[in-house]
Amino acid sequence: MQFNLFKKKSKSCLGIDIGTASIKIVQLRREEEKFDLETYGEISTVGYLERLNDAFQTTSLKTLQAITREMLRVLLEKTEASTKNAVMTIPVFSSFVSVMEVPEMAEKEISQAIEFEARRYVPIPISEVVLDWKIIESGMIKDDISRKPFRGKRILLIAVPVEVINKYLKIADDLGLKVRALELESFSLARSLMFGDKSSACILDIGVRASSFTIVDKGVVQMSHSLDVAGAEMTKTLATGLGVATQRAEEFKLTHGFDHQEENGKRKDIRELLNVPIERIADEIDRMLRSYETKTDRKMEKLILAGGATQLMGLGDYIENRLDIKAVSAFPWSTAIYPVVLQEALKKNGPELSVAVGAAMREE
Ligand SMILES: Nc1ncnc2c1ncn2[C@@H]1O[C@H](COP(=O)(O)OP(=O)(O)OP(=O)(O)O)[C@@H](O)[C@H]1O
Ligand SMILES: [Mg+2]
Repeated sequence: MQFNLFKKKSKSCLGIDIGTASIKIVQLRREEEKFDLETYGEISTVGYLERLNDAFQTTSLKTLQAITREMLRVLLEKTEASTKNAVMTIPVFSSFVSVMEVPEMAEKEISQAIEFEARRYVPIPISEVVLDWKIIESGMIKDDISRKPFRGKRILLIAVPVEVINKYLKIADDLGLKVRALELESFSLARSLMFGDKSSACILDIGVRASSFTIVDKGVVQMSHSLDVAGAEMTKTLATGLGVATQRAEEFKLTHGFDHQEENGKRKDIRELLNVPIERIADEIDRMLRSYETKTDRKMEKLILAGGATQLMGLGDYIENRLDIKAVSAFPWSTAIYPVVLQEALKKNGPELSVAVGAAMREE
């Protein structure tokens, strides 16, 4: 047993989120119950819009990795990040996340059962993934098949390909960063957006490549999964439907959004085209919420909108009405201490930086 006789010296930590459109970093230093914002920044990925056109990835993975490393190097220099202590995040689309229910059994039998069961949930050989799992509920539980509750455990299972982990570690190693942890971005989002909050929420993160859905309840990540429909799909749908170049379609998306009030100069055709990807996302949220509510008899209290593409004009209002759930914009800075002059900027970039903020808040 260890006794903490002295207060731990507070340490700075860098949260690093390598996204498709941009890399985001946030450096925080823990001060009692709050976090001092030391620096933050974002760097856009050159040419990512052009790459959306590629049916096949023409840039080799090795080249992409080298570009990513150099961009992160520039970002660390520009933001004058002073610590090497880092937590990096892994997107849900690069992982396999599932929930499994097991009957009551001894603690040491659980890990064996999980290893065995994981083969049913993970579509690639178990030897090629790193497995992690967390008990999210113990006692009387229900699963998808038997509607009758039984005594057992509900477990969140996470599998990340070794290849993905090595890619991140290589970048960090090249830059001399000390990786304290690699975590699924869902955990970072839960930390920055639901810190100390025991109520239920679904965090929707719409990025470029994928949308992720994370249910957080009683202070725990209950489920997370992703769908390959996000900002890029919206832009591509507009480009094809309107017969314009990708760059132009992106501009249309940013200026018109999902709003057809023609008196505001908005275009109805753009709304109609965007309706297709947005409905796919809305259907997925609906399905996930219903499945969770049936299993747990708990009602979801709110939807938190994170990721750049949830900024799409009119999207929050639409989803709120369509799914009859309160939708709020992500503000990951509620436990941060920062200069008042930054208030507006931080509010604006909150949705995009939520993952990096949560990673920097990680303690151990
Ligand atoms: N105001 C806006 N309206 C519509 N879309 C927006 C707006 N601002 C940003 N976006 C979109 O958000 C996306 C970028 O979001 P974000 O930075 O969260 O993605 P990412 O983390 O790089 O991607 P991923 O998580 O998929 O790897 C782009 O597709 C961009 O077009
Ligand atoms: Mg992202």
